[in-house]
Amino acid sequence: MTERPLESFYKVEMGKRREIIGTWAGLDRAELDMLNKGGLDERTAENMVENVIGIFSLPLGIATNIVLNGQEIAVPMVTEETSVIAAASNAGKMCMETGGVRAQVQESLTIGQIYIDGLTDYQDAISQIEKNKTRLLDIANSQDEYLIKLGGGARDIESRVTELDDTLILRVHILVDTKDAMGANVVNTMSEAISKKLEQITSGNAVLCIVSNLSDRRLVRATASWNEETLGVDVEKIIKVWNIAKSDPYRCATHNKGVMNGMTAVAIATGNDTRALEAAAHSYSFRDGKPCPLTKYRSDEKGVLYGEITVPFPLGVFGGATTVHPLARVNRKILKVETAKELGEVMAAVGLLQNLAALRALSKEGIQKGHMRLHAKNTAISAGAVGDEVERVASLLTNMKKFDTDTAKNIIAKLRGR
Ligand code: MEV
Repeated sequence: MTERPLESFYKVEMGKRREIIGTWAGLDRAELDMLNKGGLDERTAENMVENVIGIFSLPLGIATNIVLNGQEIAVPMVTEETSVIAAASNAGKMCMETGGVRAQVQESLTIGQIYIDGLTDYQDAISQIEKNKTRLLDIANSQDEYLIKLGGGARDIESRVTELDDTLILRVHILVDTKDAMGANVVNTMSEAISKKLEQITSGNAVLCIVSNLSDRRLVRATASWNEETLGVDVEKIIKVWNIAKSDPYRCATHNKGVMNGMTAVAIATGNDTRALEAAAHSYSFRDGKPCPLTKYRSDEKGVLYGEITVPFPLGVFGGATTVHPLARVNRKILKVETAKELGEVMAAVGLLQNLAALRALSKEGIQKGHMRLHAKNTAISAGAVGDEVERVASLLTNMKKFDTDTAKNIIAKLRGR
């Protein structure tokens, strides 16, 4: 087997990790320096939001042991929650022997909504819109020449009559391929631009024009499988825990929150709009009228567990903070993604791995044990433990049920004979 530079990533200290990632992604000195400075300077921050008084930092880690579509990847994740990065890495490692995760974008269209009221004949309004579709799409596409040059643009218009309290209203959707941008801005511009023409055509009033965050026309699917032996837990138990999420909305919310632990962490690391991603995922999970798990599992008679996830990916690698935040650019370089579709595939893979790791822990030892073991490791590392010391210090901290840095420092001193 060829040498894998990320294999023992968690065992080495932070400086060495940066060095490994620098080589992995071909980062230059300035990019490496950004990693310990947080990337964002005050002037950039001031241009991003209003009334800036400072810059708020969070840990940036790398999920390792993840093979996606046949290639090993290093996944930058920004999160305040312990165990998330280790869990994704662990779930990734456990499916390496079965080929890792496969992911593919299914469709990539962003929806803009225009609501028209004041109509007397709804069916006539719909047929007028159908007749004028080419003109409407032309108006939309004249709003962003650059997007058209890149091969994107408005693709279709769909209308339907919707009930609103005790009256009716016309809902028009414009479907836009926003290419590598998340696309909310361009879709809002296009929706507003065609609303005037829609008013003329239908003789109605446009009362609302805005992107929809239920991004169910921008979907990515990922699959992976795990051997029961490698998981070290009865796969039927995992399926039972998943089944509980299928039937109980209270459990389903937590199940899907676990999926988002991974996806949101990658979204922050790449400068994406976490609220759009979360709104999309949670509203998509309600597509059958009740909350459903974002993941699905089945097993076969050989004890292989098959997992899959389908999630919306309202994401960009271009525009907004994805372009402005210097670390978002560095993190994309680490991920080696150049398109929004590639980033979507990473997201789906991480969401699935994150969920499998949670279900496995819940089916096996419960979540707290793993949390505390990891917490102990983190404390050991932050107290200065290196190499094999990390495991030894973590075990001692766990046995003592003490997880503070001072205790860890004392243990390290004793181990080193000081
Ligand atoms: C904790 O942040 C996430 C989990 O609760 C997810 C789950 O229960 O599936 C562990």
